[in-house]
Amino acid sequence: MPVKDYLDTNDFTKEELLDMIDLARAMKKSIKAGKYPLLLAHRSLGMIFQQVSTRTRISFETAMTDLGGNAQFYGPGTIQLGGHESIEDTARVMGSLLDIIMARVDRHKDVVSLAKYSAAPVLNGMSEYNHPTQELGDLLTMIENLPEGKKIEDCKLAFIGDATQVCVSLMFICSKMGMDFVQFGPKGHQITDGGLQVDTDVDLLAIGLKNCEKSGGTITITDDIEAIKGADFVYTDVWYGLYDAETDGASYMDVFYPKYQVTMDMMNFAGPNSKFMHCLPASRGEEVTDEVMDDPERSLCWVEAENRKHSIRALLVYFCPPLPNEREIAEEAEGELACVLDKIREYRPEVSL
Ligand code: CP
Repeated sequence: MPVKDYLDTNDFTKEELLDMIDLARAMKKSIKAGKYPLLLAHRSLGMIFQQVSTRTRISFETAMTDLGGNAQFYGPGTIQLGGHESIEDTARVMGSLLDIIMARVDRHKDVVSLAKYSAAPVLNGMSEYNHPTQELGDLLTMIENLPEGKKIEDCKLAFIGDATQVCVSLMFICSKMGMDFVQFGPKGHQITDGGLQVDTDVDLLAIGLKNCEKSGGTITITDDIEAIKGADFVYTDVWYGLYDAETDGASYMDVFYPKYQVTMDMMNFAGPNSKFMHCLPASRGEEVTDEVMDDPERSLCWVEAENRKHSIRALLVYFCPPLPNEREIAEEAEGELACVLDKIREYRPEVSL
């Protein structure tokens, strides 16, 4: 049985994730050429946000419009989600009214419950545990910006700073792809020492190492900057984010600054051609300098933000029940879209609504 929901990239094989990337690239190419494949006509997406969002919300909403569907935004406090009505009951109702659901939640176990009781597929728009839609957009960005002569599995990514859910997600996707992953961060804020407060009972590193066994990737977690040498991609995230509201923000500067700030010197230490990535939003002058963020040669963070939409389009098509005339629509698109969808439908056959 194909996996119904997109909650965690560890639920998918490397090949399946790369198929999602192929789908994203095929639709990106077609839409950039002015041909919009209306693969989600009359489909409705429900977007639950328990946290604020710029990129994720806009990407989901515009992706649905691009593909002929519609998106409904439910902001914090606007619908039932575990209050008067149980999550199970809300999920049952939403799953019958909508074709697909995305949720950005305070607690990962809530998106898991939503998926369990909803007939419609559920996509995880970020929890305190992981950020899998960001992972796919980041994979697309890396694949589009591979160093000359390298494949994705030959690359190294160095994450600088706090063990946020984005850091953990990068460990997951890099280890799945067979890449070398490094977290360069202070003790107390590393993946291995409880740096991420997760409301689930999981051994984060064990998941990454299991991926490495299959893929040949490596994981290094350290406070020694030597480990970032040779990184093709240098990635950072805020030191004080959405899920840190109960912590004193100012104390973060004492822990991370200046050792873990991404500067041009750090970029050059990683390698003369290393590229900068950031999930955004950034706190300029804290985890990264303006010089790095705004460097047109080194910084990929703006392309990375745009790629959220391209990759989310692919997720919506991959997980939504396909239209009966999907193949005709794909054939009318520019490029390889029909071939890519044929391959995906071999293992994700048509689902009747
Ligand atoms: N990177 C990301 O998820 O951005 P938003 O919080 O703005 O959606």
